Amino acid sequence: MISQTTIQQILGRLDIIDVVGAFVKLKRRGTNYLGLCPFHNEKTPSFTVSPAKEIYKCFGCGRSGNTISFLMEHEKYSYVDALKWLANKYGIEIEETFQSDEQRQQQQSADSLYIINNFAREFFSRMLFDTEEGQDVGLAYFKERGFREEIIQKFQLGYSPEKRDAFTKEALAQQYSSESLLKTGLVVNRNEQLQDNYRGRVIFPIHNHSGKVLGFGARILKSNDKAPKYINTPENEIYIKSKILYGSYFARQAIDKADECLLVEGYTDVLSLHQAGIENVVASGGTSLTPDQLRLIRKYSSNLTIIYDGDAAGVKAALRGLDLALEEGLNVKLVLIPDKEDPDSYVNKIGAAAFTRFVEKSKKDFILFQLEVALKDAGSDSTKKAEVVNRMAETISKINKAEDFTKQQDYIKQCSEILKIDEGGLHTLVNKFIRDRIVTMERKLPFEEAKHHEQNARQAAETNYDDATFNLLFKDELQEREVARILLEYGTKKWNDERLVSEYIFDEMIDESLIDNQQVIRLIHVFKDMLQRDAGTLNKNYFVYHEDRDLSALAVSLLNAPYEESEHWRGEYSQSSGYTKSLFEQPYENFIRAVAKDNEKELMRYLKMDEDRTTEVVDSAINYLKLRKVKRMLLENQLDLEKPHTKEEYTMLHQTHDHLKQMEIGLTRKMGTVIIK
Ligand code: CTP
Ligand code: MN
Repeated sequence: MISQTTIQQILGRLDIIDVVGAFVKLKRRGTNYLGLCPFHNEKTPSFTVSPAKEIYKCFGCGRSGNTISFLMEHEKYSYVDALKWLANKYGIEIEETFQSDEQRQQQQSADSLYIINNFAREFFSRMLFDTEEGQDVGLAYFKERGFREEIIQKFQLGYSPEKRDAFTKEALAQQYSSESLLKTGLVVNRNEQLQDNYRGRVIFPIHNHSGKVLGFGARILKSNDKAPKYINTPENEIYIKSKILYGSYFARQAIDKADECLLVEGYTDVLSLHQAGIENVVASGGTSLTPDQLRLIRKYSSNLTIIYDGDAAGVKAALRGLDLALEEGLNVKLVLIPDKEDPDSYVNKIGAAAFTRFVEKSKKDFILFQLEVALKDAGSDSTKKAEVVNRMAETISKINKAEDFTKQQDYIKQCSEILKIDEGGLHTLVNKFIRDRIVTMERKLPFEEAKHHEQNARQAAETNYDDATFNLLFKDELQEREVARILLEYGTKKWNDERLVSEYIFDEMIDESLIDNQQVIRLIHVFKDMLQRDAGTLNKNYFVYHEDRDLSALAVSLLNAPYEESEHWRGEYSQSSGYTKSLFEQPYENFIRAVAKDNEKELMRYLKMDEDRTTEVVDSAINYLKLRKVKRMLLENQLDLEKPHTKEEYTMLHQTHDHLKQMEIGLTRKMGTVIIK
């Protein structure tokens, strides 16, 4: 672990313009810098860097973050590696903190697995090339399949002899502990004896993205009904199957260059394609893609082309996990290999050039492909066809990132044409799925609460409320975020002689009881915790640079927000409910006017007002939040009133209504605004 002092030193030194500027050509524009976004293709610059806020934001693709997240995104560094890169750049010496015994043990255990794997890799390679058995059996097998020596060397393939304990003996002689050896799966315990696990098999080492060996796949040479074709490393600290993409170490540069990642099923597919000069390829290892694997691919490129066998199982495997890929914002294409071949056999059969051409011309859009398959399945059955429409709408609704909006619209158009249905109808259906998800999954509400919201959503949908009402019911987000922003911006300032602004906010909100957003709640918890433990280091940057990327992303987006979101919701507010402009915006406008007039005396007045503005801004944000909640409760109460009730229940509901109305009036009065309606 890098010590907190070192981190503070690094943060103290880093200059976002300097760092981002090393990768992006930046031009000064007023107080900010502007350049071509490195995260998406664009011709006119919309990538903005603010040295004052120490953050960047692209107004084209929406990507934003701080210096460290820039390095993590752009250079694919881990958090620690990004810190190390910066330390190196600024000549800061890294001080490591003391690790707990448990941490150290874990680290040592992982280290020892890597060390043993590396030893084993060398051993298997030696057995393959330097022993008679290896050459006659292992090497002969590879050669017969058409693998050339350079590819065998590059992928560090090997051979494990028939002998019962060839590896075990050498490993024990090297003093590796039997406990660690068993963990790597290279050695097994049979009848109280340590023995080799992969006897008489060829070996495929599996590397992580930086080339370290995580484990092995050991292939049998002759087909055999009793023994499995491959024996793979069992799950351990470093071999986590769901996070492994075979070949990523050898494919990274080619993927970058092509801006496309090809995905195949097996080890031998990767090898054969490499040999044919197609290097931007990784393998999933035969199972359907996991979310972690998708996320890894997304880091390398947003264009994924899946190349699978054309048989039914292959297609099914390919279709699973598709929705996840869409959620990750990947453009997914599909290529099916014909005639019971797989990529390995097919490229060997038709040659590299023909294979590349075949892939190019057979690439199918994943969503449209899925539609084709489903339609063929449904035939003329109209119930089944309706199901297909539903499923497609759900699939399309998962393309839900702001930057993918056009893509989503395109799919709606194309799919409605293929399905021969009304485009507007499909649109409505897609929106329904998006809405349902916002209400349930994405807000990650606890189950009961989610159910409640879903019921409300359904009711609202049925009752045909207008948008403003609907928003009022479900979009408290903006007010909550505004309070969170205020907390970050002013939290450590003094409210008065006794309390900090944050303490005032916590009191007013009765801690976080007014907040629904789980992320904001977490931010409040961390804030409170730091307030008690180490108030001195608590400031905006503590959150902007927080190791927890969710938290840091939230902080960045909040500090970015005032111009986009609070303006937005205030606008929305004054439109939908007829509020006059809130008071605190007026001094600001006057201030701007004073600047424009260059009126020093007037300016001084406003500069002095700056401190007062904190109070005003804080109170305003809290009151907006409270008002929003009250309005929501009013509306919910009203919905309840429309249902049949007993007399007592009606009385209760009316009393609640009056009470809430009083609160609403009290709040608006406090805010100096007037309800017109
Ligand atoms: N696989 C596995 N265990 C098995 C079978 C398959 O782990 N018993 C995984 C391996 O990662 C394998 C992938 O699934 O690479 C694809 O399986 P398959 O197509 O059967 O193997 P290939 O790698 O293509 O091997 P070959 O070309 O020699 O048949
Ligand atoms: Mn194969």
